[in-house]
Amino acid sequence: MKAIVFEGKDHPLKYASIANDPREGMVKLTLKSAALNRRDYWITLGLYPGKPNLPTVLGSDGCGLYEGKEYIICPNVDWGEKSFPSPGYVILGYEHFGTFAESIYVPSNKLYPKPSHLTVEQAAAIPLAGLTAYRALVSRCGAKKNDRVLISGIGGGVALFACQFALALGCEVYVTSGSSGKIEKAKELGVIEGVNYKDPSAMIQLAKKVGGFDVVIDSAGGPGFNTLLKMCRMGANVGIYGGTVGNIDGVSVPNLFFKQISIHGSTMGSDQEFAAMLDLINKHKIIPIVDRRYDLSEGVEAVNSMKNSSQFGKIVLDIA
Ligand SMILES: NC(=O)c1ccc[n+]([C@@H]2O[C@H](COP(=O)([O-])OP(=O)(O)OC[C@H]3O[C@@H](n4cnc5c(N)ncnc54)[C@H](OP(=O)(O)O)[C@@H]3O)[C@@H](O)[C@H]2O)c1
Repeated sequence: MKAIVFEGKDHPLKYASIANDPREGMVKLTLKSAALNRRDYWITLGLYPGKPNLPTVLGSDGCGLYEGKEYIICPNVDWGEKSFPSPGYVILGYEHFGTFAESIYVPSNKLYPKPSHLTVEQAAAIPLAGLTAYRALVSRCGAKKNDRVLISGIGGGVALFACQFALALGCEVYVTSGSSGKIEKAKELGVIEGVNYKDPSAMIQLAKKVGGFDVVIDSAGGPGFNTLLKMCRMGANVGIYGGTVGNIDGVSVPNLFFKQISIHGSTMGSDQEFAAMLDLINKHKIIPIVDRRYDLSEGVEAVNSMKNSSQFGKIVLDIA
């Protein structure tokens, strides 16, 4: 089959043919659409942990056909039965062949009916980013109606799902971004206000104006994380699921304990959370935002385009 094939960080990512042999106990999904995550880009740079047998096929998100019906894939491999992942937990698209391909073998219990209000492209955009956003926002931070929620870096795929989920839950949602254009797009979705994360004083001013935030969701870390903590109100929950900028120095410890802030690390989510996330999407008819689409044959270009984070929402591959 044709696929986006990864042979190691010192080899160029390529669109090529690769054997896709049947796997025992698994069903074959004919893929129609796949979506990118920053993880795919980190893998090409050798910055993602894991021990794949190379060559492998990238891609964690997909939507396709099995026995004439459309499904999306839960990308979890061996999460286990507990609320935290088992030691052997991995995500589709590195140790196991992923979705940037014409077909994939997966266990049938990882296939979930495509939400009927969505196109295959919109549905393909959901799995990894939607699951990560759901666990960080709902399971870990307990976001609920009327909470004042701040989502940082709204251009990110996960951030945008967190924003849409928070709006659906009835939260008051605010955002940060490096781009004023993205803040304006977020306002069109129902976000109240946004500030540039490169301007810490504007962030503090926003927090003072609104009275602080109950929930903060971040994937950047770095020095800006301390500013986010200063924006919290008493008893806030802060969810962090990524470290795009880097480690966190200079955190004000008194700010943490006087305000009784809880910081929750979060990664992906269980299969049960995947089902709950789809229920939320179906109930509120949430439509994932697709920034742009490429053909599978242009998948290398699509992955490389993540370098400058110009997207607002998800980048999708069409698979004929
Ligand atoms: N733990 C997990 O399970 C998990 C799952 C998914 C992703 N992640 C990690 O989470 C991060 C985001 O992933 P993604 O797929 O959503 O990425 P993405 O779609 O590529 O988005 C990256 C976004 O990061 C934002 N950003 C950059 N610098 C920032 C800063 N200083 N402060 C705040 N935001 C900043 C930008 O927002 P603007 O464009 O608005 O400026 C950019 O659009 C990555 O590090 C990824 O590896 C972790």
